[in-house]
Amino acid sequence: MARRVAVLISGRGSNMVSLIEAASAPGFPAEIALVLSNRPDAAGLERARAAGIATAVIDHKSHPTREDFEQAMDAVLTRHRVEFICLAGFMRVLTDWFVERWTGRMINIHPSLLPLFRGVHTHRRALEEGVLIHGCTVHFVVPELDAGPIIAQAAVPVIPGDTEESLAARILVQEHLLYPQALRMICDGSARLEGGRVAFSQRWNGEGALRSPI
Ligand code: GRF
Repeated sequence: MARRVAVLISGRGSNMVSLIEAASAPGFPAEIALVLSNRPDAAGLERARAAGIATAVIDHKSHPTREDFEQAMDAVLTRHRVEFICLAGFMRVLTDWFVERWTGRMINIHPSLLPLFRGVHTHRRALEEGVLIHGCTVHFVVPELDAGPIIAQAAVPVIPGDTEESLAARILVQEHLLYPQALRMICDGSARLEGGRVAFSQRWNGEGALRSPI
């Protein structure tokens, strides 16, 4: 049976759309049960509603503390019987309490080849460093920011003349392909968090963990 997944967003939600589209295919091991935003004006909310997905807003500004905000999120997730969480452009740092509560059941997509370029402005920093290969990573979420065990990565070339925008756009195409693959892997048991590392099942042949368009 399909696992119940919540996608947490703060903005436009293009990765969310790719997850919704993938999950609508017959046989996909996940269904998007909820889209939750911390911002009432997130453009992704409208896109989720248009796709017929349940949405919720927990506005961090109307909660006095981070813990209070997260308890409210957790209550909504429980009410919707959510089993796995995908962070997709969710711009709030989560406390250890929330992360530990969802350990092994919460993943994130980050626009760099981790462990390079944790944090923000990844494309700008990649251009400054002069790397020739850049990309994106899906990883389990751990308390340390952008430091969790890696499930899947996609690589793209950095091309002379690239700007932050052109690089971001090239990587976003790969994000939209990679994130559904990683969600499939955790929902069908191909990738599990075990002892702080990703355990890949023996029946899984490596397909989908690395994408390289070159
Ligand atoms: C993506 O680049 C993702 O890697 C990062 O935030 C961005 C979200 O974009 N975590 P979108 O809201 O999915 O369009």
